[in-house]
This record gives sequence, structure tokens and C-alpha cells, in this order.
Amino acid sequence: MSQEIARARDEALAALDAFRAALARFRRAAGAPPLFLLEKPAPELPQAALEECRVFATRHQMMRALVRGGIGGEIGVQHGHFSRFLLDEIAPERLHLFDMSDRLLRPDVRSDPRVEMHLGDSPSELRKLPEARFDWLYIDGDHSYAGVCRDTRVAVTRLRETGLLIFNDYTPWSPGEAMAYGVMACVNETVRAGWKMAGLALTANGYFDVALRRA
Ligand SMILES: C[S@@+](CC[C@H](N)C(=O)[O-])C[C@H]1O[C@@H](n2cnc3c(N)ncnc32)[C@H](O)[C@@H]1O
Repeated sequence: MSQEIARARDEALAALDAFRAALARFRRAAGAPPLFLLEKPAPELPQAALEECRVFATRHQMMRALVRGGIGGEIGVQHGHFSRFLLDEIAPERLHLFDMSDRLLRPDVRSDPRVEMHLGDSPSELRKLPEARFDWLYIDGDHSYAGVCRDTRVAVTRLRETGLLIFNDYTPWSPGEAMAYGVMACVNETVRAGWKMAGLALTANGYFDVALRRA
């Protein structure tokens, strides 16, 4: 491990100690858990919406089991490593990729003839496409509650009736950044509004994926 990495790790661990102590002081003073850390608490899911949900070891296993071909989209692509997997193993006829920038995107993904790139704010870009166009959409862009809800509101109108709405990072908290994510709250609200869970993909670090279908 380089000295720079070791120093950054030690700083993070010292800050974590101070953070834990502050949370303990908060719990003692307030007599309540520090829910202010979460952007928005996720509402409970109705059990009926989970009855057909399959559980997978990884998001790759879930995608292979639930999605095949069709017209797909990935919102938030960054380097495009997951886009590469989608192209190779899910084999979409067309893959629409959305990101603010393609600066980091792998050239082999950018140049794939099935790929259509949409640069800019993802909900605004997705809204430019016709309604009921997509067989599946994978949402992994802005993880704030407002951001993921903006993507979701447009995505549900762009999916076909039988389309699959998939979310990365189904969690209220990102341990790698020590910050709140709004994905779990947005997903649970979407389910309560008339969707059901088709798949839940686990990971060791808690950044789960979830796939929804219309109920
Ligand atoms: C976590 S990365 C995506 C990773 C990729 N899906 C994967 O699995 O490898 C999130 C991406 O979302 C993009 N993003 C964030 N907010 C966005 C927005 N409002 N519109 C478009 N892209 C956005 C960021 O630029 C970043 O590249």
C-alpha cells in the first residue's frame, strides 16, 4: 500500500471514530436514533408486492435471468463497464446510454453500433424519446432522492407495459461515501404506487439492485 493510500485510510478511520462518538452523543441527548442522516426514510413495502420476487447473488445474475434482448437503456454509465456486460450478455437490439459526459466511457462501448448515446441531464434526455419505447431501463445516475425520483418519473412513461424498471444501489446509505442515497425511498414509493418486485440482487457491500414490474 502506498503512503498516500495509508494516510487517507488512517484519516478516514480517525474521522469514523469521531463520527461514531458524535452519533452516540446524539442518541444519548435525543433518546432517538440519528435518522437525520437519511435523506428520506423509505416507506414499508406491501408484502404482496414481494411474493414473486427472486433473489440473486449478483446484479449480473439478475440481469441474465430477467432480461434478454429488446430495447434497453442505462442511465448513468461512467466508464461503461456495466454497459459492456449488457451488450455482451443481455444482447439488446439497441442500448440507449445516458450520462452528463462520455469523457470516461470505454471506446469499445461508444463505438458499438447498437449504442445510442444521450449526453446531458438524464430525465431531460429520456423525455425526448417516445413513450412506451423501452423493454427495460437500468437507473444508476443521480442517487439523491430528488434525482432518482426525477429519473423514475420519466422512466415509467418510457417503458412498455411489460417493461422492467431496474435500480442500482437500492440502499438508504452509501458506506463508501458516508452519505445518504434516496434510491430505497424512491423504489419503495414506486412499488406502493402500483409496481411489484421481480428481483433483488445482493452484494457483499450492501449496494443492492432491484427490478420492478407493473403489478
Ligand atoms: C455510479 S455511476 C454509473 C455506473 C455504471 N452504471 C456502472 O454500473 O458501471 C453514475 C453516473 O451517473 C452520472 N450522472 C449523475 N447524475 C446524472 C444526471 N442528472 N444525468 C445524467 N447522468 C448523471 C454520472 O456522471 C456518473 O457517470
